[in-house]
Amino acid sequence: TRPLSIGVAGLGTVGAGVVTLLRQNAELIAARAGRPIVVTAVAARDRTRDRGVALDGLRWYDDAVALAADPGVDVVVELIGGSDGPAKALVEAALAAGKPVVTANKALLALHGATLAEQAEAAGVALAFEAAVAGGIPAIKGLREGLAANRILRVTGILNGTCNYILTCMRDQGREFADVLAEAQKLGYAEADPSFDIDGVDAAHKLAILAALAFGRPVDFASVHVEGIRHISALDIKLAEELGYRIKLLGIAAQVEGGISTRVHPCMVPVSHPIAVVDGVYNAVVAEGDFVGRVVLEGRGAGAGPTASAVVADLIDIARNRATPVWGAGIAALAHTPSVPMEQN
Ligand code: HSE
Repeated sequence: TRPLSIGVAGLGTVGAGVVTLLRQNAELIAARAGRPIVVTAVAARDRTRDRGVALDGLRWYDDAVALAADPGVDVVVELIGGSDGPAKALVEAALAAGKPVVTANKALLALHGATLAEQAEAAGVALAFEAAVAGGIPAIKGLREGLAANRILRVTGILNGTCNYILTCMRDQGREFADVLAEAQKLGYAEADPSFDIDGVDAAHKLAILAALAFGRPVDFASVHVEGIRHISALDIKLAEELGYRIKLLGIAAQVEGGISTRVHPCMVPVSHPIAVVDGVYNAVVAEGDFVGRVVLEGRGAGAGPTASAVVADLIDIARNRATPVWGAGIAALAHTPSVPMEQN
């Protein structure tokens, strides 16, 4: 069978991870996808940087949008990031060209997901985004497919690996915030602008996506209450510990009267709760369904391997032609639902 040919835009930590994973597990991926999945083109500005992966023989584009027009590219993987600019232009161009898109871009989806999904629906192609929420955890598939029969009552989660890593190191090593942040950046966990991590914005992006899927309504990102971990000190963490609590940055989405409440802020989590022990770069997504009860998913929420794992899972779905979401067209369907007032926290 003809291989599925992939164009990858953005060759940072995750982009290099996707190329590596597709090569290293090529045989099992081909078996599960029904055909080989091969990266044939990339878009990135710097052609000379060593990314720890061989890139010769691939078609290179400096301008990401040009990747969508490459007739040899079947599927576009968008790993540029940012809610607007080249990432958005590329996704729009690819959908307009009738090409499926896989993206890890939570900012883009939190702000423009409904419109883009409508576009994908109109074009009859997939817009897949497992990697956009909680890295390697199959949170999107879990909610959409695994819990498809349930009315979802609440979704809670540790949704930012950088913050969880920082809070864990502050607790275990008594170190202060700034010192650990530099380390999380070095490990490739943090966003290009780390204030998105530590001020809770990245977690809020992911929460907005989860909430839209869980409750079948678009979420107005401006209505999400967002608070980060900048002012948490090692002493706060120690005192909480003495009282039997762990401080975690949580995203919480719940159906309330008249709308959906969505908020991100540091929380005191009792040590007996399953997510209190989720440490380091690990994330957790807790969903409560009316029939299933509580489901807890845990896994690494950032970094090359986990995020590439989610991107490639979406590519395998596309190769298999099973990328059509279970709830109508996912976020796209939500765009047609009349908006309800959001609780302003
Ligand atoms: N900066 C993000 C995090 C990366 O730390 O969780 C994964 O979205």
